[in-house]
Amino acid sequence: MKRLEGKSTLITGAARGIGRAFAQAYINEGATVAIADINLERAQAAAAELGPQAYAVEMDVTHQASIDSAIAAVVAKTGKLDILINNAALFDLAPITEITRDSYERLFSINVAGTLFTLQAAARQMIAQGHGGKIINMASQAGRRGEALVAIYCATKAAVISLTQSAGLDLIKHRINVNAIAPGVVDGEHWDGVDALFAKYENRPLGEKKKLVGEDVPFGRMATAEDLVGMAIFLASAESDYIVAQTYNVDGGNWMS
Ligand SMILES: NC(=O)c1ccc[n+]([C@@H]2O[C@H](COP(=O)([O-])OP(=O)(O)OC[C@H]3O[C@@H](n4cnc5c(N)ncnc54)[C@H](O)[C@@H]3O)[C@@H](O)[C@H]2O)c1
Repeated sequence: MKRLEGKSTLITGAARGIGRAFAQAYINEGATVAIADINLERAQAAAAELGPQAYAVEMDVTHQASIDSAIAAVVAKTGKLDILINNAALFDLAPITEITRDSYERLFSINVAGTLFTLQAAARQMIAQGHGGKIINMASQAGRRGEALVAIYCATKAAVISLTQSAGLDLIKHRINVNAIAPGVVDGEHWDGVDALFAKYENRPLGEKKKLVGEDVPFGRMATAEDLVGMAIFLASAESDYIVAQTYNVDGGNWMS
């Protein structure tokens, strides 16, 4: 039996990368998925490739009106919202002495405020429906500890872990499970950008940082987005109903907590 049959799902930042892989996996499990992204063209292309259970929604998680209209679009299309994955995020990197206020505000606005206020809007919809729901936030190993050069991103992901705890505790009385996934290093376009930033600040050739972080993973390589889908399906399914406010590491052994 398919584990997410008929579930109406919204995934932010699903036009590429991990969000897109989650969309594919959820569709395989019977869900309908809103591919919500700030890049509408790419979201439309992804939705077209993913087939009739996918549809594109333009969404900027930094604007309340855009959050509200994305949730409304999901309800208009499917009549309900069962599952939210807060996946959209931005990365940046700089030594403490070179961090800019603009970078700080952009990252906190997307990674933290975007997560919180999308979660809030989804929870309001789920509470109104009256039969619970599942909310999954994308944290990171970066939220488990600080990293030289990665101060802002690490702080945003620590905040995501904390918000998952508070929201999880507050919403479980409505049978809304809020949990998070903390990946390690996941290969894809995102990490190509990360690699380029490390090349700049650590004076390395392009591709070297990526190779090193992959070799450093106890499992022996970087993750693929597909390595994360098992946890994403589990946390959206009835099998995880008793799991509340947790963040799960899916990182090949990089971090233990
Ligand atoms: N790739 C990794 O190694 C890694 C590791 C740990 C955690 N994560 C987390 O996993 C999640 C997905 O990562 P990814 O590698 O697929 O990233 P990605 O950069 O490939 O994809 C992010 C998507 O979010 C969209 N987006 C950006 N700003 C947005 C906004 N304001 N509103 C809506 N959409 C917006 C982008 O257009 C893009 O499609 C993120 O939360 C990331 O922090 C990734």
